[in-house]
Amino acid sequence: MEEIAFFDSGIGGLTVLKETIKILPFENYIYFADIDNVPYGTKPKEEVRKYIFDAVDFLIKQKAKMIVIACNTATSVAIKDLRKNFSIPIVGMEPAVKPALEKNGNKKVLVLATSLTLAEQKLKELIETYDKNHQVDKLPLDGLVRFAENFDFESQDVINYLKNEFAKININEYGTLVLGCTHFLYFKKAIKNLIPKETLLIDGNEGTARNIKRILCEKSLINNNGNSNIKFFASKKENSQLARLWKDLLDSYNP
Ligand code: DGL
Repeated sequence: MEEIAFFDSGIGGLTVLKETIKILPFENYIYFADIDNVPYGTKPKEEVRKYIFDAVDFLIKQKAKMIVIACNTATSVAIKDLRKNFSIPIVGMEPAVKPALEKNGNKKVLVLATSLTLAEQKLKELIETYDKNHQVDKLPLDGLVRFAENFDFESQDVINYLKNEFAKININEYGTLVLGCTHFLYFKKAIKNLIPKETLLIDGNEGTARNIKRILCEKSLINNNGNSNIKFFASKKENSQLARLWKDLLDSYNP
């Protein structure tokens, strides 16, 4: 029984898994969260790279047929080296800058992500390629990762944090906000309440799910029937309680 393995520093990647199950309902899945080391986005690149390689080694030992790096930060830091070192298909994520610019006309685009994603060469190259009219700005929202790991998605503390961060820019200038961190998807409602009604929020989850399906099809690795199963793993030794919490979150999360 070969699985598709999803990896994130914490619960963010569950949002990508949910989107993927919708279009690949007969696959078996592994979800691995590196909760000993979350958050990644505020740590030095070399330290994060080591965590990622450890996680991928673990997932390869589970005999996964594909690995999905359901984390923009981990993708920015390590996707090239991972593909050099491992031969199984590895799918990554990147902030949805291109679709944001296509949808946006001539209004500005704001990329929301972790500090590490925003500092990385990968995003710089993406912006250089598509942002011909210099419409793209960036804003780190590292605090949301901590809130998410505490399952706190809409408390007054979350709202105050967002208000504070948005006060650093003129939010009304932006036609589209890109959710460039998988943890941020849980805060769609909180963010929507603080921005103009017509501002679009976009993310890369649906595109990533389609990409996963396309690659499985190309490699004849797709499962077309049977029951879908999900195994949860965390870097902490004891994780049975967490697995239950994650399963509930996955069931209740509504993109
Ligand atoms: N979920 C991750 C992302 O998509 C990062 C969270 C973290 O800082 O660990 O960027």
